[in-house]
Amino acid sequence: MKESELRTLLSDLSLEEKIGQLIQLPGYFQNAGNITGPAGDMGFTQEDLRLAGSYLSIIGAEKLKKMQTEFMAQHPHHIPLLFMADIINGYRTVFPIPLAQACTFDPELVEDSAAVAAREAAASGIHVTFSPMADLVRDARWGRVMESAGEDPFLSGHMAAAMVRGYQGSDLREPGRIAACLKHFAGYGAPEGGRDYNTVELSERTLREDYLPAYAAAVNAGCELVMTSFNTLNRIPSAANTWLLREILRREMGFEGMIISDWNALEELLAHGIAADPSEAAFLALRAGVDMDMVSPIYACNLKALVENGKVPMKWIDESVWRILSLKNRLGLFEHPFKDADETAEKTVLLSDENRLRARKCAEQSFVLLRNEDALLPLSGTDAVFIGPYAESPLLNGVWSIFADDSDTVSLGSALRRCPQTREVPIARGCTMCDPEQPPIGFQHPLPLETLDAETALEEAVRLAKNAEKVVLCLGEHRECSGEAASRGDLSLPRCQLRLLDAVAAVNSNLIVVLFTGRPLDLRPLAEKAKSILLCWLPGTEGGEAVLNTLLGANNPSGKLSMSFPYCTGQVPVHYNHLNTGRPWKGGIREGRFGSKYQDIPNAPLYPFGYGLSYTTFTCSPVTLSAAHLTRSSTIRAAVTLTNTGTRTGTETVQLYIRDLSGSVARPVRELKGFTRVSLAPGESQEVAFTITEEMLRFYRLSMEYASECGDFDVFIGCDSRTDNGARFTLTE
Ligand code: NOJ
Repeated sequence: MKESELRTLLSDLSLEEKIGQLIQLPGYFQNAGNITGPAGDMGFTQEDLRLAGSYLSIIGAEKLKKMQTEFMAQHPHHIPLLFMADIINGYRTVFPIPLAQACTFDPELVEDSAAVAAREAAASGIHVTFSPMADLVRDARWGRVMESAGEDPFLSGHMAAAMVRGYQGSDLREPGRIAACLKHFAGYGAPEGGRDYNTVELSERTLREDYLPAYAAAVNAGCELVMTSFNTLNRIPSAANTWLLREILRREMGFEGMIISDWNALEELLAHGIAADPSEAAFLALRAGVDMDMVSPIYACNLKALVENGKVPMKWIDESVWRILSLKNRLGLFEHPFKDADETAEKTVLLSDENRLRARKCAEQSFVLLRNEDALLPLSGTDAVFIGPYAESPLLNGVWSIFADDSDTVSLGSALRRCPQTREVPIARGCTMCDPEQPPIGFQHPLPLETLDAETALEEAVRLAKNAEKVVLCLGEHRECSGEAASRGDLSLPRCQLRLLDAVAAVNSNLIVVLFTGRPLDLRPLAEKAKSILLCWLPGTEGGEAVLNTLLGANNPSGKLSMSFPYCTGQVPVHYNHLNTGRPWKGGIREGRFGSKYQDIPNAPLYPFGYGLSYTTFTCSPVTLSAAHLTRSSTIRAAVTLTNTGTRTGTETVQLYIRDLSGSVARPVRELKGFTRVSLAPGESQEVAFTITEEMLRFYRLSMEYASECGDFDVFIGCDSRTDNGARFTLTE
């Protein structure tokens, strides 16, 4: 539709129709036209259902085409519905969780994964996905770290932008493209105590310096929508935060798309205690600039009266409706209201061999080899037994894979049985996934009870382990233990799994742990007892194949941690890019008292950001700089030579970190400023160079101006965030 026609449409709409556009209803109201049940209970009327702008969480080409047809036929202006859903890491073909995808340090691969998800979801009739989540995270207790790209603003920004490009392409009307909704604006990843939905307090400097850049990267990549966060940020809930939405997001970041609240967040303004009644909640949210109300009845039940009594100017309503209509138009829905919904395509595109292959590749690249003493990995094929609750479990998708079917997932057990080399290897469960007294509380469905005779299972595992050359122990956190509303106060593995670990380690020291998890865990017992640890996260549909390929050496691990694994729970939040403090501590735990340290644990995490081993080894030559001085108009070339010193071809991610030694405000001990993946054959070397510019050195100065300050800087180039391979340069006027 031409813009002028869209303007005419907007001006033709009645107030009720306009308010209708601002309402998103949940899939379980599907029964459009019938307000008995939950819709009526929540206060929605027949009229709201007739005029709504959008539905979320309904899928299926046939169903959505029928729904769209019936809806448009009865709508006074035949305006199509927008169908939105959480397509987080794949639709029917599930990719690794986003935290794992970030470990690939490969934005192109992540873009490609998002494009597959978009093609599949589009075929099933979806127009918008609630992804990417660009919340920066530093606290593994928060279950939603699995949906993030981890603790680094620079890496998170690259990943968020890649996802936006993958979903949207360059034109939303292209077949297989869907609109991206960036979330959760802002600061949702920093809840106090790691408890979901909890209070967030961040200084404006920290917010701008660390938390906003990843959102900004997604906005710059052209994401169409932004979702507000549930939390208060410095005491103001995001859905009512005019400064955050109008000043920062719209004016400073230049975001012109549509803003949607999170699920029921407008009603939650009452619980937050900033709205005295539903009418005030509607006023505050619209004033802040929330265009669409996800699921709550706040806009539906209150905006009309607010407009009629003059409290809400029509201009606010019109602006929001305009953004929603414009998005529908950019998606081409006025001409093609079904967009790509197509029952035939659903049969060929969803879970196609090609998509599975891409999911496998992404999973393989996301695995992080944390430890490999005595080069226990890779296996030779038949020299190991497989034990543990994850050995045959198909529960390899993250909790957001709500439209996937576990029966499509290849478990490690089925991959082992399919592969001629491993067809005969013994497999035993050893123990349940969760402690019987502490089962997770399910995301969507009640979880089936795990039944197992614990003693017999343990005995069988020990018997197998005793006679084997190597043991592959498949452990981890149940997938329902991470994700939304899955915060944990203790990051240990379940007791039953630790008992299995002890029992097996007692009879066989050639122990390899394959770890499945949605978040960093306390891995001390594993690091003590296992010679090898392969972190596989929640790897998705092709997880089993990807794990087996890696164990057998067909895939050489190359993932790097996107989030530090803490030494223990008491150490979180922990992140590599912290400030130095006035008393930085380099000594041992018992070597003194008055430093910034603990009495009982080290300051360093067990495995830091950027860390990950390979089946081969690499060395980095000392850093060379093309100049010792940098100015605003010059650049410095910083280079190392990377050499594969091992016996296998492998890929290393070379990382560039910079430290500003002195500034008008305290600066982090180092910050990631660049990364490159390099593949080398044994004995091969390659120069890896980065260009350092003045722009990379900017920060929020004392005055809050975003600019650099002259002085000395350290450059580090190496294979993880601990590297000491450095050189110094000076920024001058
Ligand atoms: C609540 C979650 O916070 C958000 O991430 C999600 O997109 C919505 N629910 C919709 O399901």
